[in-house]
Amino acid sequence: MNTDLQYLCGFGNQFSSEALPGALPIGRNAPQRAPFGLYAEQFSGTAFTMPRAEARRSWLYRIHPSAQHPAFERLSRQLTGMRRASPTPNRLRWNPPVDPGEPTDFLDGWLGMAATGAADTPGGISIYHYVANCSMQRVFFNADGELLVVPQAGRLRIETELGALLLEPEEIAVLPRGLKFRVKLLDAQARGYIAENHGAPLRLPDLGPIGSNGLANPRDFLTPVAAYEQVEAPTPLVQKFLGELWGCELAHSPLDVVAWHGNNVPYKYDLRRFNTMGTVSYDHPDPSIFTVLTSPSSVHGLANLDFVIFPPRWMVAEDTFRPPWFHRNMMNEYMGLICGAYDAKAEGFVPGGASLHSCMSAHGPDGPTCTRAIAAELVPTRLDQTMAFMFETSQVLRPSEFALNSAQLQSDYDACWASIPVTFNAQGS
Ligand SMILES: [Fe+2]
Repeated sequence: MNTDLQYLCGFGNQFSSEALPGALPIGRNAPQRAPFGLYAEQFSGTAFTMPRAEARRSWLYRIHPSAQHPAFERLSRQLTGMRRASPTPNRLRWNPPVDPGEPTDFLDGWLGMAATGAADTPGGISIYHYVANCSMQRVFFNADGELLVVPQAGRLRIETELGALLLEPEEIAVLPRGLKFRVKLLDAQARGYIAENHGAPLRLPDLGPIGSNGLANPRDFLTPVAAYEQVEAPTPLVQKFLGELWGCELAHSPLDVVAWHGNNVPYKYDLRRFNTMGTVSYDHPDPSIFTVLTSPSSVHGLANLDFVIFPPRWMVAEDTFRPPWFHRNMMNEYMGLICGAYDAKAEGFVPGGASLHSCMSAHGPDGPTCTRAIAAELVPTRLDQTMAFMFETSQVLRPSEFALNSAQLQSDYDACWASIPVTFNAQGS
């Protein structure tokens, strides 16, 4: 098992990589005869006509062109949780999914939890949990969107057309729409979260007055170097197309890209490298200060998807209600917990679990956390050994029928706010 992989550093760069010296053509993308008899293929993640700064495309030099495949047929085994229920304004919270008893690869173990709409609209997101206990023997690509993978337990080796990524909890990976890959497990069980982005590819947020450094720094994003296999043997290829799985059998491995260049690439990021910003006087900032990656919508300033984290950090604000304050807003927030405890909840929100707070649903710290925060002595305090995150979208998330009927759905979530006492006293100060 190769755990000593190489990476290219940076975000959105025009990278070049070749697994065989001389395999990358010089001076043109599609020469009449590519080096070593390879086939040239363009892999686009955005429309050809996007502004240059937003365009994503890579050129791949491979043993077999991707076009060399038979017809796909709809698979009898489909993903769990793809049927959406009626929208609900209620606050929802789930315990972690149960680890599977039967052999379950990364794709078998997707559990659809919520989606904004169908995958054929140019925006919105879908959210899944995943559970797995065996490596994929097949190769998969997702025609419906870019994938943001957030492991919560178990290390993964993601082998893609463009090279391999090792991923562990507290790291994330982003896989472009259409990228072929398979996932191998490096531990007995794996569990985590996936945001499927149907809109504009994720990018780093602008920093405004923060300046040119801070939050997620570009140099910490890692893209794999080219790696290929030449396997001239039957290989199952599965795609997700409008939410349904279709498969065919290739006569070869599709992970046969010997060299590539471009910026439509997979990448990973270690959340522990996030340069967390916060208040050093009073009132803590809006949670947008914790944005790692964002997918903008067509409305300026309104995110199709924000990926936000709540990492270890110092709390030093004076005369401040330090947990996330009570709030209502127009976004739809799907939260998960990778490790530790989240500072707004005393119990009930556990690693591997999740919560959904939809547009204008009121939420904030639970009763015990609120009471403790009001009484706390405000000395500098370090929140440690924690990593929570949020998939936040401007479109309403409709839970799946699976999610609403799941035994993991907590029936008494609203009760966590019931113990907040009346402290109002008209005669007091
Ligand atoms: Fe919130």
